[in-house]
Amino acid sequence: MSNLVIVGTQWGDEGKGKIVDLLAEYSDVVVRFQGGNNAGHTMVVNGEQFISHLVPSGILQKKICIIGNGMVVDPGVLITEIDYLKEKGVKIDPEVLLISQKAHVIMPYHKAIDAAREGCGKSKKIGTTGRGIGPCYEDKAARRGIRFIDLLDEDFEKNVRAVTEEKNFYLQSFHKLDTIDVDQLIKDYDGFRKILAPYVADISVFLDNAVRKGNRILFEGAQGTHLDIDHGTYPYVTSSSTISGNACCGSGIGPKRIDSVIGIVKAYTTRVGEGPFPTELFDDTGDFLQKKGAEFGATTGRKRRCGWIDMVMIKNAVRLNSLTGLALTKLDVLGGLDEIRICTSYAYKNQRIEDFPVSLNVLGECEPVYETVAGWEEDISSVRNMEELPDNTRKYLKRIEELSETPIDLISVGPGRNETIMVNHPFK
Ligand code: IMP
Repeated sequence: MSNLVIVGTQWGDEGKGKIVDLLAEYSDVVVRFQGGNNAGHTMVVNGEQFISHLVPSGILQKKICIIGNGMVVDPGVLITEIDYLKEKGVKIDPEVLLISQKAHVIMPYHKAIDAAREGCGKSKKIGTTGRGIGPCYEDKAARRGIRFIDLLDEDFEKNVRAVTEEKNFYLQSFHKLDTIDVDQLIKDYDGFRKILAPYVADISVFLDNAVRKGNRILFEGAQGTHLDIDHGTYPYVTSSSTISGNACCGSGIGPKRIDSVIGIVKAYTTRVGEGPFPTELFDDTGDFLQKKGAEFGATTGRKRRCGWIDMVMIKNAVRLNSLTGLALTKLDVLGGLDEIRICTSYAYKNQRIEDFPVSLNVLGECEPVYETVAGWEEDISSVRNMEELPDNTRKYLKRIEELSETPIDLISVGPGRNETIMVNHPFK
């Protein structure tokens, strides 16, 4: 297998950063294909923690890292992140980090509009990360976005003045807020483009050449399947397509280039932001998962809502992404529970629902139907192969494989790169 896509199967925060960092060792190029700095990917190497929001998680393995055309990029945040990683001794220059000419640029008015909508009480609160992601994708679809190629263009100032005039009208007249100072904006973005210009490239051509040379490409998804703009719990979703099919669209390669797709599954479920969550726990077990799993958003620091694993969701993710394997993360967090519940279907009124419902009204009224398995007391964080796992842990894993009809390729038992059980190596 040479080209692999990694996606989240739940509502994000499944631990994709660690798995991408781990598997990047066996690849040549790592590409992010959607989202922006709403994501927060955490990697721990030799006890040191690294968090990236825009730079792909392959950077610590010294691989070529690409910001694909499907991403929306806040240039100020990217520059700060490059400096942060350089300070930590990570090599970053235009040889190892490339930005697609077609990636869209987050502007100050995107962030102002995101914050205004979330705070105004006039529109539905989504619980966004407030990073301007949705408004930037809106402008992309409305064909008035600014791409990196436009940022470098001599007409940048003229274009941005025209768009800002419209945004200022909206901010001032509708939200009664201060307007964006367009002269300051142009000055700031002029500085950004001077720093970032050397990184901007034609990614589709680059990737095609890499594939022809026999390079291995790893596609790093952000957020999760159920935050997908089409297939997630709309409108409580992010504004990009988070599923594996978008690895092609968001980077400029064709579907025949993809060989396998790994879905990252946290051993329980978490969610940040608003929206229904059938297996959410409001009791001591929910608190236990939140505390033991240190479930705080890597981007906003918000406490994550926690609940049992939901196989209705995972089966939905298997189908939507053509998952060839699963990577189960944070399994160690479940240690110490007397029993563990697995949601296998939903009860809705007098019906049994097996497929993830589209209607949020239905989903909001679904009661999870659980199967209960015995827990384990042991600390499994030092286990490195399946045989050493407690019997009950193996039974839990077997049940997840049976219900998802998908093999578990990797198991993560701690945040460190080495705290992993490699069951079937996706690249071997
Ligand atoms: P936005 O992507 O900032 O527009 O936020 C939309 C929804 O997606 C909110 O519920 C966020 O909490 C959620 N979201 C966005 N990015 C992430 C992520 O990386 N992990 C988990 N949730 C996210």
